[in-house]
Amino acid sequence: MNEMALQVTDLRKSYGDLKAVDGVTFSVATGEVFGILGPNGAGKTTTVECIEGLRRPDSGEIVVLGRAFGADDPEFRRRLGIQLQSTGLYPKLTVREIMRLFTAFYDDTLETDALLDLVGLRERQNAPTAKLSGGQAQRLSLALALLNKPELVFLDEPTTGLDPQARRAIWDLVHDLRREGRTVVLTTHYMEEAEELCDRVAVMDHGHIIELGTPRELIAKYFRETAIEVDQVDGLTAEGLAALPAVGQVTEENGRFVVFSAAVPKTMSGLFDWAQAHSLELGQMVVRQATLEDVFLKITGRRIR
Ligand SMILES: Nc1ncnc2c1ncn2[C@@H]1O[C@H](COP(=O)(O)OP(=O)(O)O)[C@@H](O)[C@H]1O
Ligand SMILES: [Mg+2]
Repeated sequence: MNEMALQVTDLRKSYGDLKAVDGVTFSVATGEVFGILGPNGAGKTTTVECIEGLRRPDSGEIVVLGRAFGADDPEFRRRLGIQLQSTGLYPKLTVREIMRLFTAFYDDTLETDALLDLVGLRERQNAPTAKLSGGQAQRLSLALALLNKPELVFLDEPTTGLDPQARRAIWDLVHDLRREGRTVVLTTHYMEEAEELCDRVAVMDHGHIIELGTPRELIAKYFRETAIEVDQVDGLTAEGLAALPAVGQVTEENGRFVVFSAAVPKTMSGLFDWAQAHSLELGQMVVRQATLEDVFLKITGRRIR
């Protein structure tokens, strides 16, 4: 068996003058959950659809499960599971009918009942797919990607637009795939999703991979500090916060200052002294670890969302 499920070398794809994917190189080990994290328009879908053989790259080398790109045959296709960003599901067919239809394409598949249970759609099995909620439709398209028991699964923004509960259900399915030793390549613009699911993450922006590593590595590389979020109240300024002990950087988000501190107790006591001296009424405070979102902001100066 090949140790590498996927190797992509210097992949390029332009649409006219737009370099959607501009020299992307990465590899994915067998059994790994690999994430491509980036904002809308970063080039995530173009990258995975080139790998899946759905778009033709301008140049670059793609080796999928040990085979060079273009070596397409049904035997090979069977080893892949592909969830598209928007699957057009025959609207009048019921959930059960569409599962049976897709099952007929393959020799070796999960049973329809097992599949319904796997994605929690048994109660909706007789509903026309047009009547499904966003989360249910997403789980159906995931079921269709998994029904041929693929070794390598591609999920393009599997939880975009879903409520937290529906997102959780999809995360559990990805955890299961990992436990079963399957390889998963997923794209997302949710940093918490990348942190939760992925062994390694490629951070992508403007067609480039700007960072690649485990979520921990990426966070540790950019932040040895802890983030302290402080409500913005009258009299509190970014300059004032930046002058406190052990503070590295101060940013603003959602009406709060985010103070990155190398020594939380020192910064906090400095903050309390300062507030007292200036008769400031401090608002809410939250102390948290830095996240991949902070990393993205630090590298690009922009937020992912
Ligand atoms: N078929 C296409 N024709 C022209 N431009 C496209 C096409 N598909 C994507 N793009 C553009 O390429 C860039 C990357 O898109 P995409 O790969 O869909 O990014 P992502 O999935 O990260 O949102 C975007 O600027 C997008 O508008
Ligand atoms: Mg996309």
